[in-house]
Amino acid sequence: MPGMLPLTPQAGDSRRTAFLARIICLFVLCGVGMACVPAARAEDGYDLWLRYRAVEAERAQAYPPYVTQLVAGTTTPTQAATRTELMRGLEGMLGAAPAVAENVTRDGALVVGTAASSPLIARLALDTRRLGPEGYLIRSTTVGGKAVTVIAANQDIGALYGAFHFLRLLQTGQSLERVDIRESPRVKLRVLNHWDDLDGHVERGYAGASIWDWHKLPDYLDPRYTDYARANASLGINGTVLNNVNSNALSLTPMYLEKTAALAGVLRPYGIRVFLSARFSAPIEIGGLKTADPLDPAVQRWWREKTDEIYKTIPDFGGFLVKANSEGQPGPQDYGRSHADGANMLADALAPHGGTVMWRAFVYSHEQPDDRAKQAYSEFVPLDGKFRDNVMVQVKNGAIDFQPREPFHPLFGAMPKTPLMMEFQITKEYLGFATHLVYLGPLFEETLKADTRRRGKGSTVAKVIDGSLHGYAITGMAGVANIGADRNWSGSQFDQANWYVYGRMAWNPNLSSQAIAEEWARMTFSNDAKVVTPIVEMMMGSREAAVDYMTPLGLHHVMGRGHHYGPGPWISGGPRADWTSVYYHRASADGIGFDRTASGSNAVAQYAPAVAREFGDVRRVPEEFLLWFHHVPWDYQTRSGRPLWNELVHRYTRGVDYVHGMRKTWDGLEGSVDPERHAQVAGFLAIQEKEAQWWRDASIAYFQTFSKRPLPEGYEPPPHPLEYYESLEFPYAPGNG
Ligand code: GCU
Repeated sequence: MPGMLPLTPQAGDSRRTAFLARIICLFVLCGVGMACVPAARAEDGYDLWLRYRAVEAERAQAYPPYVTQLVAGTTTPTQAATRTELMRGLEGMLGAAPAVAENVTRDGALVVGTAASSPLIARLALDTRRLGPEGYLIRSTTVGGKAVTVIAANQDIGALYGAFHFLRLLQTGQSLERVDIRESPRVKLRVLNHWDDLDGHVERGYAGASIWDWHKLPDYLDPRYTDYARANASLGINGTVLNNVNSNALSLTPMYLEKTAALAGVLRPYGIRVFLSARFSAPIEIGGLKTADPLDPAVQRWWREKTDEIYKTIPDFGGFLVKANSEGQPGPQDYGRSHADGANMLADALAPHGGTVMWRAFVYSHEQPDDRAKQAYSEFVPLDGKFRDNVMVQVKNGAIDFQPREPFHPLFGAMPKTPLMMEFQITKEYLGFATHLVYLGPLFEETLKADTRRRGKGSTVAKVIDGSLHGYAITGMAGVANIGADRNWSGSQFDQANWYVYGRMAWNPNLSSQAIAEEWARMTFSNDAKVVTPIVEMMMGSREAAVDYMTPLGLHHVMGRGHHYGPGPWISGGPRADWTSVYYHRASADGIGFDRTASGSNAVAQYAPAVAREFGDVRRVPEEFLLWFHHVPWDYQTRSGRPLWNELVHRYTRGVDYVHGMRKTWDGLEGSVDPERHAQVAGFLAIQEKEAQWWRDASIAYFQTFSKRPLPEGYEPPPHPLEYYESLEFPYAPGNG
C-alpha cells in the first residue's frame, strides 16, 4: 500500500539517539553556561535526498504560514501516495504536518490535485493544457479570498511530481511567496536499466546485491521497493527495466512474470512502469521451438502469445529492452536477419498493448576487422526508417563503452527517421566503482550539449533526444542503475548524486549539472553555504580529475581486463583484440593514439562534415579528444606548450592532486556533516587518492617504456617498476559479469 511508508529502523534509532544526545547536551553544556549546539545527527544515507530533516530556525518560522492546511484527495493510490509524501515531508521539515481539510478555510492552504480529482481545482480553471499528462504547475493564488498554494496537474502523476517539487522548494531553502512554476518533462520515457541477474548478482554493480529479492517475490514486498519508487518519482523517472540486458529467458516464464507483476503493483502508484530485458532466443529456451528466427511465423506467434500473457497480469507493462548480436548475445543476425527484423517482430507483439521496444545499438564484432568505434553506425544507419513506430534505438553516449570521456556517438543526428534514446551509465564501471567520488553531471551535460551539426549549428544531442531536431514521436533516456541492497543504495553517499542527476536530466536534458549538484547537496547535506559551496566545487571538478588520472587527452579503454578495476594499459592478447588496451592506445616508439582520421580508420567521417573536419584536424580537435582521433609523436607540442609526454605526466599528476584537494576540503567539513556519513566519505576519498596514484604511476611506468623520456622536472617517478603493476590481480573485484 502506498500509504504505508515505514520509517526505516535505523532512521528511528538515530532519531532516538539524537533526542537523547540533545537532552544530555542541554544538561551538561547549557548547565555550565556554554552555547548548546547539537552535533549533526548520524545518518546512513538510506533516506537519499528525501531526508526531510528539520529546516533551519529562520525558515522554520517562514514556511508554516504557507502550509496551514492540506486539501488533497486520496481516492486513487497515486493521490494517497501524494498526500502521504506531503505529510511526511512537511512534518519532518516543520515539526508538524498540516491539518488535512476538505475545503480551504484558512490562509496558507496547500491545494493539490487535478480538475477531475478536486472540484476546487476545477473551479480555479487553471490553464493546464500544455502541461501534458505528467506536467504540473505550482502557483500562489487565492480561493474564496484565502491565500493558497495550488499544485495542479492533468493527471494524478503530475500532481505527485508537483508535490515532490514543492517539497524540494523547502528542502533547498527557497521562498514560498509568489510561487509560479510550470514544469513538464521534455523526454517521454525516462527509465532505469537494472543490470540485475535473477540470482541477485548485479553486473557492474558496486552497491551490493540486487534490490529485487526474486526468491521472496511475489509474496513478500520489501518496503524498500516503495522507497525506491518514491525516490524515482521525486525525479520523474517513469520506467524501470528490472533485469540485465545479458538476460535470462526465465524472466519470461509464468513464475517470474508473477513476481514482476507484484513489483509492478508497488511501482504503479508512483507512475513507474516495468519493462523486461527480453532474451532473443527465449522461444527456443523456454518455448520449445527449434528457432528464434524473427521471420518464422511460429516464432512471431510465440512472442505475440507471450506478450499477451504479460499484459494479462501487467496491463501497463512498458515493453522490452533487447541486447542482440552483441558480446555473444543471440539475435536476428543468427538467422541472417537484420536488427530491424528482430525489433519489428517484438514491436508487432507489443503494439496492440501500447508497449515499446528499446533496441540497443551497442553492437560490435571481433570478427569484423573495422574499428570498433565505427561498427554501430555502420550497422544501424542503413536501417533508418525501417523500424516500426513503437521501436526506439538505444544508443550509448559514446561509440566505445561509457569511458570517462568519449566524443558523442556519431549515431546521434544520423538517424532522423528512427527515434534514438540516450543510454547513460550511472554505475561507475569505468570511473572507479563506488569508492571514487566522481560526479557524472558534467559528463552527461557535455554529451547532451555536444553539437552534432546535422541540421546546422545548435543541432545538439539534447535536441536529438528530446525529439525536437527530427520530430520524433517517441523519446527516451535510459540510465544504467547504480542501485543495490547497500544501506545507502548506491554504494557511496556521493553516488546518490549520479542517480539524482540522471533523473533530473532525463526530465529536462537542458538543466545544468552545477545547478543540480547544488540542489542535491542542499537536500543531502545542508543548506548552509559553508557546506554547499565546497561540496559543489568538489563535485564539479571530480569527473575531470578522474579523466586526468585514468584516461587523459582522449585515451580510452585502458583498464584491467574483465572486471575493469584499476589500470591495465598493458592488456593485450586473449580472445578478442577489441577487448584489449593496446588496440585502443596504440602506443609505440613513434607515438601514441588511435588514428581515426582519413589516414587511419576514418571514424571521423561518420560525423557531420563540420564535426568531421574539426575532429579530423590535429590542430583543431578539442585537446581532450586528441588521442581518441589522432596518433601523435611523443614530442608533439600540445596547447600548453608542453611536449605530449610531459603533458600526459602533468595531467595524470593533476588528477591525483585534485583528489588530494578533495580530501582536504572534506576534512574541513568535519562537524558540519553528520559523523557517520562524513567518516564513510573520508574513508572512500582515502581509497580514491591511493587508487588515483596507482592509475597515474602504473600508466606512466607503462607508457614510459615507449616514450623513453624522463619525467619532467618536479614530477615524482612511479615508486615501483612496471612489472609490479602488471602483476597485480583482482579475481574478486566486484560487479564482474
Ligand atoms: C559493457 C559492460 C558489460 C555490459 C555491456 C553492455 O561492455 O562491461 O558488462 O554487458 O557493456 O552494455 O551490454
